[in-house]
Amino acid sequence: MAKRTIVAMPGDGIGKVVLNEAIRVVDAAGFTAEYVHGDIGWEFWCKEGDPFPVRTQKLLEQHKIGLFGAITSKPKDKAEAELSPELKSKGCVYYSPIVSMRQKYDLDICMRPCKTFKGNPLNFIRRGFGGVIEEPVVDTMIFRQNTEGLYGGVEWTNPPDQVYDALMTHKKFKENFAWCPRPELAVSTRILTKKYTTRIIKAAFEYAKSKGFDTVTVCEKPNVIRETSGMMLKIAQEMAKTEYTGIKVQDTNIDAQMMWLTKNPETYHVIVASNMFGDIISDGFAGLIGGLGFACSANIGPEIAVFEPTHGSAPKYAGFNPSIVNPIAMIMSACLMLEHIGENEIASKISKAIAEVVEEGKVMTYDMMKLSGKPDVFGKGAVSTSEMADAIIAKLK
Ligand code: NAI
Ligand code: MG
Repeated sequence: MAKRTIVAMPGDGIGKVVLNEAIRVVDAAGFTAEYVHGDIGWEFWCKEGDPFPVRTQKLLEQHKIGLFGAITSKPKDKAEAELSPELKSKGCVYYSPIVSMRQKYDLDICMRPCKTFKGNPLNFIRRGFGGVIEEPVVDTMIFRQNTEGLYGGVEWTNPPDQVYDALMTHKKFKENFAWCPRPELAVSTRILTKKYTTRIIKAAFEYAKSKGFDTVTVCEKPNVIRETSGMMLKIAQEMAKTEYTGIKVQDTNIDAQMMWLTKNPETYHVIVASNMFGDIISDGFAGLIGGLGFACSANIGPEIAVFEPTHGSAPKYAGFNPSIVNPIAMIMSACLMLEHIGENEIASKISKAIAEVVEEGKVMTYDMMKLSGKPDVFGKGAVSTSEMADAIIAKLK
């Protein structure tokens, strides 16, 4: 069989380090692929005025599967200031390449697993009845709609006439906002479509069915955000009635869900939410299982899929040599990729190896030891990024 080709997009900062390590682990586990390098990130913004160059887009269109490290984004004024002088008058506008990628390729289904590794010193613990200390086992998959909603990018400050006039036809707008001078008005929309809402909910049901979970939790706020959260809940309830009769729909509000995060996270296995709420819940759950060093994600579209850790480029640590950051989030993102393309056995081999290393507790990166990230962490017993990958490779069987 021809080798599969994966587009490797390291990006900036620690993205470059962790992606390399993940490829090393995946290789050692027996996945033979060819990796083609895709330029992405701040460097290409500064040099070319485009952080997501067309040549990288072409690679993704051709090969369909991407592994992505992390990029650096900076505010508007910094973006303009760092642009190379000859590009300054060319009207380049910075957009985060990962957000552009999600929207351009309809990477609408974001899956963020949060699963407790036994023995992880960063696992959440709580006080139970009678003062006993409990360590709940979290096994939750968050399905986040990745392209619409509050992150859809449809927004204005000082909205143009047509938008303003349309808003004025709404009773609530007229009553509550008409007093505000237009230049002082900022509007960000939260647009949901039935098509993409249905797709994310269906993905959640399919996952629940495949794993034998009997409940899908829709985490929104339909009592207040009646139209969009309301549509999401209604579609889920309808789907449970018609297509997934063995699976119940549970309905939680985002605010209450954040409280329940620390009370009973072990009771949630499949959660589905719109873009921003999904982002919030998945960070919350990630905090229970070890934080950014352990949080991985899949961005899946109808044709193209890209896998990445949740963390960013951590510029503070980018120059450390050897690198101190935890590669596990990136390695687990590569496992999500392997599962997506049907290489379940290799994915499970790698997951088991990570679990063994964590449970043994002999090899830990600085974050797992709750050290502050300085070059002296090695003297305190922490291992480097490569040493963690080596330890995982040593456990592959
Ligand atoms: P960040 O995730 O890069 O780092 C925050 C802190 O988390 C770090 O200082 C470090 O203490 C810790 N951390 C992150 N990854 C870690 C790892 N693998 N192992 C151990 N500790 C880790 O977020 P920050 O500092 O807010 O953003 C830095 C840059 O990254 C910004 O330019 C931001 O725009 C960008 N970013 C990019 C993302 C992406 O590429 N998808 C996501 C989030 C931020
Ligand atoms: Mg986030």
